[in-house]
Amino acid sequence: MAISEKFEYPKSIEGSASLLAKFLNKALFEELKNKKTANGFDLKNAINSGVKNPDSGIGVYAGDEESYDVFAPLFDKIIYDYHGFSKNDKHKTDLNADHLDAPNLDSENKFIISTRIRVARNIKNIPLGTIISKEQRNNVEKIVSETLLSFDGKLKGKYYPLNNMSAEDSEQLIKAHFLFKEGDRFLEAAGLNRDWADGRGIFHNEEKTFLVWINEEDQLRIISMQQGGNIKAVFERLTLAIKLLESKIDFSYNNHLGYISSCPTNLGTAMRASVHIKLPKLGNRDTEFKQITDTYHLQIRGIHGEHSQSESGVYDISNKRRLGVTEVQCVQDMYDGVKALIKREKEL
Ligand code: ADP
Ligand code: ARG
Repeated sequence: MAISEKFEYPKSIEGSASLLAKFLNKALFEELKNKKTANGFDLKNAINSGVKNPDSGIGVYAGDEESYDVFAPLFDKIIYDYHGFSKNDKHKTDLNADHLDAPNLDSENKFIISTRIRVARNIKNIPLGTIISKEQRNNVEKIVSETLLSFDGKLKGKYYPLNNMSAEDSEQLIKAHFLFKEGDRFLEAAGLNRDWADGRGIFHNEEKTFLVWINEEDQLRIISMQQGGNIKAVFERLTLAIKLLESKIDFSYNNHLGYISSCPTNLGTAMRASVHIKLPKLGNRDTEFKQITDTYHLQIRGIHGEHSQSESGVYDISNKRRLGVTEVQCVQDMYDGVKALIKREKEL
């Protein structure tokens, strides 16, 4: 923004269905427009993605942990709307896989193609990706990749920096659902694609069942995935990796918001547990499909992740709530909902 240009209430969000548009009225805009965190993250930074992309579902990002305090009059409302979590609530965590009740739902592999669970993490006292400097980003890459390279056993793997990867290799990894895609316009407007592709990369073990994305939307996305529907095995591998990483790196966490993430939808557990599942019949009954997913607090995505479409009746079904519920509950939400979806698909 040129210095002479005034920062005014964004007209582009009028009529938008985003949570930004729902809660940022003119009075609130005036109240927040000159606020900044100690790292210099301001309201313009926070809302630019939703302003540039009026088709956003949410439309805001944070620059650091302090953003959630400084812009609380806006963020708290968005957080309540998305997670049903209010400002006096406390977050809770449970990474004990024994607390999960999840016998394999589909041992004949008729419905569930694959299972994936990821969590986001960001390192304490380093700004989030929206305003991180190039040096800080490179430092995150160094800390995380060196830590991961010390892992052994089934978590042993290699680190592949994006700026050293051929276009064919990255395309192949994206198509096979292992790597983040490039050029996302929501992330672009949030400042998350600056200096692309430096400082970004992917670590994975030989079988690609344990993967870590470095410096995409969050500094770390820790991922466990495999073919089929053994949800418990995927959760167990993830919790092992989280515990190991947490013993070596201090992540940004507080008792109210849980793990701090750049997007408010990922706060708390920062966990998205999903299956790719074949539901060709239910997929043709929009209202009923949505009724079941709403009952179990689930989200429907397309086959190439967020903002993509379903293909051949295959959907990405995941937990929607991540804050105010434990990790075990996130996975249990997904499991219970998928059980109900399979039951209904069989009936049809
Ligand atoms: P995120 O999970 O990090 O929120 P996306 O929705 O963009 O981000 O998904 C990232 C990638 O993970 C996409 O390629 C998506 O197809 C893939 N993915 C998600 N769930 C599964 C799953 N259960 N099995 C295989 N791939 C999956
Ligand atoms: N900013 C995008 C929107 O508002 C995505 C929000 C949730 N997803 C995410 N990857 N953080 O639609």
